[in-house]
Amino acid sequence: MGEVALCFFLCALLFRFCVSINHRPNEIVPLLVEETLLWVSGQGHVSTYRIPLITYTPRGSLLAFAEARKESVRDFGSKFIAMRRSTDRGITWSPTSFIVDDVGNPDGLNLGSVVVDEVARKVILIYSLCFHLFHCSPASTMLVESRDDGLSWSAPRNLSVQLGVKNFAPGPGYGIQKRYNPGIERLVVCGHGTIEGDGVFCILSDDHGQNWRNGAALKSIPYNQEKRQNDFNPDECQPVEMPDGSILINVRNQYNYHCRCRIVTRSYDGGMTLPIDHLFFDYELVDPVVAAGALQKDGLLYFTNPSNEQHRVNLTLRWSLTSGKSWESKALQIWPGASGYSSMTSLDTSSVEDQKHIYIIYEKGNKDIDETISFAKIHLYGGL
Ligand SMILES: *[C@@H]1O[C@H](CO)[C@@H](O)[C@H](O)[C@H]1NC(C)=O
Ligand SMILES: *[C@@H]1O[C@H](CO)[C@@H](O)[C@H](O)[C@H]1NC(C)=O
Repeated sequence: MGEVALCFFLCALLFRFCVSINHRPNEIVPLLVEETLLWVSGQGHVSTYRIPLITYTPRGSLLAFAEARKESVRDFGSKFIAMRRSTDRGITWSPTSFIVDDVGNPDGLNLGSVVVDEVARKVILIYSLCFHLFHCSPASTMLVESRDDGLSWSAPRNLSVQLGVKNFAPGPGYGIQKRYNPGIERLVVCGHGTIEGDGVFCILSDDHGQNWRNGAALKSIPYNQEKRQNDFNPDECQPVEMPDGSILINVRNQYNYHCRCRIVTRSYDGGMTLPIDHLFFDYELVDPVVAAGALQKDGLLYFTNPSNEQHRVNLTLRWSLTSGKSWESKALQIWPGASGYSSMTSLDTSSVEDQKHIYIIYEKGNKDIDETISFAKIHLYGGL
């Protein structure tokens, strides 16, 4: 080979190498590369698995959680929190462990938000007890945490001692630890309130989960009154931190106020307030009234929901290069059939492998959304 030819060959090789690791965001061509059913309803002593959550851990594992409803599909009734763990980026999973048991509570636990404290290197899980006040009172907000990558969990701690006994259903999804100011290192967990006193509420901790206080509130209208169709009722929600340090919250629009689409609200003060000035309706994100997934990774915003105005079908991944101001017209259909709640995570190491993947967990069925809980691994660059 002549010198020129060799140089050309090496340059071509280098160029190909650079192109394959240095993807630009607008080259996103997501591909479903792996799918595993983590839970199937009716197996073991569990009637129904619902409300899936997924998180990364500081050590690079994935933890998946779901409500294991012991006796029926209903939202109340006694439950376990089921968990499975993967240390190989979702290829294999541990057997299910039941990390919390509400022991026969008539209105047992409801998930929930999982939040990683990267500074204290622990995973915190917050859930509610007696949320619907069905044959019990008051509602409580509870916390368990793991300091060993999800292998063992603390006894439940009752946060209502600090927060009061207002009904609060965290998430479902994940909470965040602020990476940027304002409020760097703060834990922010958002959720919603009761049917009547509904709205989006965030709870905050500035000492790694020891002390919690009530933060931002975006209240429903009419507040503390029973709602009707088309009332303003922001409900289940997923916060994400944007690169500018603001918190964007993607919210379920419970009574289809203004549109059959998602409500988006934003906090510029680290989760202390959610001013109405920053609220908008995202007409592109049509929604059948459901809990959806959102994730910010490397400046891109990702969103999953059953993308249909009427029915919980058509679980779809969408992405935005403009912080959610617009969405790319391409979208990835993950499952055409029955699909419900979804949640997302990614491993945030500097490894090329982790830059290329995001992980989705969602309710999936042939006929009904509560048949299984499925894990999907997405390669963002078409498998390249
Ligand atoms: C949690 O604390 C609140 C406030 O002290 C109390 O009313 C409630 O009964 C407690 N819940 C549980 C499950 O212990
Ligand atoms: C599925 O979602 C895509 C993206 O939003 C949409 O274009 C398509 O019409 C949806 N299909 C159904 C059956 O809802």
